Amino acid sequence: MKFFIDTANLEEIRKAKALGMVDGVTTNPTLMSREASDWREVAAAICAEIDGPVSLEVIAQDAEGMIREARDLVGFGPNVVVKIPMTLEGIKAVRQLNSMNIATNMTLVFSPLQALAAAKAGAHYVSPFVGRLDDVGHEGMELVSQILTIYDNYMFDTQVLVASVRSMTHVLEAAMLGAHVVTIPFKIMNQLTAHPLTDKGLKAFLADWEKKQQTDKSQ
Ligand code: E4P
Repeated sequence: MKFFIDTANLEEIRKAKALGMVDGVTTNPTLMSREASDWREVAAAICAEIDGPVSLEVIAQDAEGMIREARDLVGFGPNVVVKIPMTLEGIKAVRQLNSMNIATNMTLVFSPLQALAAAKAGAHYVSPFVGRLDDVGHEGMELVSQILTIYDNYMFDTQVLVASVRSMTHVLEAAMLGAHVVTIPFKIMNQLTAHPLTDKGLKAFLADWEKKQQTDKSQ
């Protein structure tokens, strides 16, 4: 399973990279707008920092405009994946970008049929937004399970990239279901290895070690 980091913040990307936990990056216009620098500088820096796939999203709403922006975005690096919104125009753009060998990530996916359409159009990744579904009383992970079943039935190559992750449970469930990728906010990435029993156990080991050193010294 691949771990992407869901941020446009370079400092977070570098810290996560230092942990060896980052296989790629996903951004979106909201994440980009939180950064102080110009988005072009941010995009270029992220693509240079990370070897793996970096999703950069188009703003245009029509297929022609999306393709124009995609051609510009791939100029930031060979690792750019163009993020395209799940609309009919988006489907049209994904199909054409696929024939141009430009990798795409179909975003804002909330139903299994949307995911089926994305795979048929040739999207490289499909991004079901689990947290936003949970927010409105649906079961986000049920969608991931349905998409994986459909892709398995027809042997689609499209990878399921679990997005809108809000908790460690989302990461665990995505892994249990066999999703190809999960994109994780920095805060949650840092919590993944934490366990109170690990902390308690380590504290006890060190205390016992120290006690023995003191006993040896006093003999
Ligand atoms: C995914 O690619 C999106 O950037 C992201 O996961 C959206 O998450 P949110 O629902 O927390 O905004």
